[in-house]
Amino acid sequence: MTQDEMKQAVAKAAIEYVEAGTIIGVGTGSTANFFIDELAKIKHKIDGTVASSIASAERLKGHGIEVFDLNNVNEISVYIDGADETNRHLHLVKGGGGALTREKIVAAASKKFVCIADDSKLVDVLGKFPLPVEVIPMARSFVARELVKLGGEPVLREGFTTDNGNVILDVHNMEIMEPTKLEQTLNNITGVVTNGLFAIKPADVLLLGGQDGVKVLD
Ligand code: A5P
Repeated sequence: MTQDEMKQAVAKAAIEYVEAGTIIGVGTGSTANFFIDELAKIKHKIDGTVASSIASAERLKGHGIEVFDLNNVNEISVYIDGADETNRHLHLVKGGGGALTREKIVAAASKKFVCIADDSKLVDVLGKFPLPVEVIPMARSFVARELVKLGGEPVLREGFTTDNGNVILDVHNMEIMEPTKLEQTLNNITGVVTNGLFAIKPADVLLLGGQDGVKVLD
């Protein structure tokens, strides 16, 4: 099975978590794109979606799936999204595609977060994948200095602006032994909008695709 076939397998498996007659939160990235394509096949069963990025909203609309503004929605039954890294506690690193802030908002507003990933994303210790931090542009240098004090090596994602008009610092060389603590510490740096750690509120279910099929971790 190729990596794309594994992504497709977890995207298909995630359809089981889609409740008829509800609004579905939809993530961003190549795995989430496979999910959107699967969701299109049962689009008449759901009430609509909330997207975590402009790109995902466009893909959903392209399939004729309704996309709501989060402010106009009372409840999202489930949020389905990929990850850049996950550990066995379902703590995640996200934001490789730069959509981390909206992803964290939609995940927070959803009753359940189902993460879908191929097994290359499973690690013992988070941090090999550079940790994305979304920053208000005028705070870029200040936040970078604070990240260096924490032992990281922040690198500005060149030529990239988030859907919220901010910049991203990708923090290299962090061995993240205490994800919840680091998530809180980073949240407390003035000028940081969001960091890509999803540990305070981890995924509820992880569907992990491998050569032997899809494993469910929860
Ligand atoms: C987007 O900002 C990310 O959080 C994605 O969820 C993550 O990068 C996973 O993307 P892939 O499914 O393309 O690996």
